[in-house]
Amino acid sequence: MLFPKWVNTVPTVLAMGGGGATLMTVALVWYYFTPKFWVMGYMPEQPGAGFSHQIHAGKLGMDCRYCHTHIEESPEANIPHVSVCYGCHAEGRLNPRSYNADRIEFVRTAYQNDEPIAWRRVHKLPDYVRNFPHHVHLQAGVSCYSCHGQIIGMPVVFQAESLSMGWCLECHRAPEDHLVPPDKVTELTWVESELSERRSMSRRERRVHTSDLIAALREAPPENCGACHH
Ligand code: HEC
Ligand code: HEC
Ligand code: HEC
Ligand code: HEC
Ligand code: HEC
Repeated sequence: MLFPKWVNTVPTVLAMGGGGATLMTVALVWYYFTPKFWVMGYMPEQPGAGFSHQIHAGKLGMDCRYCHTHIEESPEANIPHVSVCYGCHAEGRLNPRSYNADRIEFVRTAYQNDEPIAWRRVHKLPDYVRNFPHHVHLQAGVSCYSCHGQIIGMPVVFQAESLSMGWCLECHRAPEDHLVPPDKVTELTWVESELSERRSMSRRERRVHTSDLIAALREAPPENCGACHH
């Protein structure tokens, strides 16, 4: 079981002593133990040697869309078929000295047996959230970075954001904190420095800075219940 960072602060709260502190602890535990806080940092173990975004998207500089091919046209993101991996990792294709060849054995086995690799899902909204269209967000200029964190630095993908309703609405109310030109959404290093610069601007400056992108939205990001729940 993986404990999120806040667990470290629990002993401090306990050490404060007194009735107030006990009540606070109860409140904290009750609040934080609700599922949405448990999933922050969620990082399931992946099959075989796993898949490193740090190597492929970071070091080798592969674009997200090389593998997540339908992301700009489809409400759902896709995970690549093993044949995409095999395109590079076929027997004898890559110089095995550049990495330990044993580590890609699971890729070759899956391909040869014509079986999918059983990747474990990291990000998952509850079923009662009926509508989360990936493509609409990308076309509007919301980067993978805003919702999945700095993926190109991750040897193993983990959930960087809470994915709670409050999190969705926070951005829907202030898209100027996140919008970038749509052709930059997969350039995660560029986006990271752009959004960090933006944090030193006032809200008014951020709105001026992104006015073209806000004007290009098909409509204001929705806050009505039906938009996400039907
Ligand atoms: C060479 C193929 C490849 C490239 C390039 C790639 N990915 Fe992936 N991605 C995968 C595979 C395979 C998985 C499933 C295994 C895993 O979760 O690590 C995955 C999983 C993910 C997940 C987690 C999905 C879940 O289960 O919730 C996210 C988020 C993601 N990728 C984002 C990105 C982003 C952003 C980029 C570009 C910076 C990118 N990927 C580039 C192959 C790729
Ligand atoms: C465009 C070519 C390309 C594709 C497509 C590709 N890889 Fe790789 N992969 C490489 C290269 C090159 C290395 C060696 C990198 C190095 O030595 O730093 C590597 C290294 C690896 C390693 C060994 C490093 C480690 O983490 O232990 C694994 C495992 C791996 N890839 C799995 C996959 C999987 C799974 C997929 C499909 C989702 C995939 N690769 C798709 C080029 C590719
Ligand atoms: C506005 C937020 C947002 C943006 C932008 C975003 N994602 Fe996601 N992504 C999510 C959420 C939320 C989920 C879980 C969806 C669900 O459970 O229906 C998800 C799921 C995924 C999955 C898992 C799909 C599966 O079926 O296993 C992948 C892969 C993924 N995203 C890749 C990407 C990539 C690559 C980008 C950028 C090109 C990106 N996402 C941009 C929020 C976002
Ligand atoms: C980082 C910013 C950001 C986050 C986080 C985000 N959204 Fe959005 N969302 C937008 C923007 C911007 C639009 C407006 C797109 C347009 O109209 O062009 C939008 C539009 C939508 C729409 C309307 C789609 C349509 O067809 O008009 C839905 C539904 C939606 N978001 C659901 C969600 C849900 C559910 C979550 C949380 C799981 C979420 N969004 C998180 C920025 C965000
Ligand atoms: C932008 C998308 C979005 C909008 C708009 C939205 N929700 Fe949600 N809602 C979510 C997401 C995502 C979750 C799941 C995450 C969570 O439990 O926090 C959720 C969860 C919920 C839950 C379950 C909460 C729980 O803790 O079990 C209820 C009830 C709910 N929403 C009601 C509403 C109502 C009522 C409205 C209108 C006032 C609304 N939602 C508007 C995205 C949205």
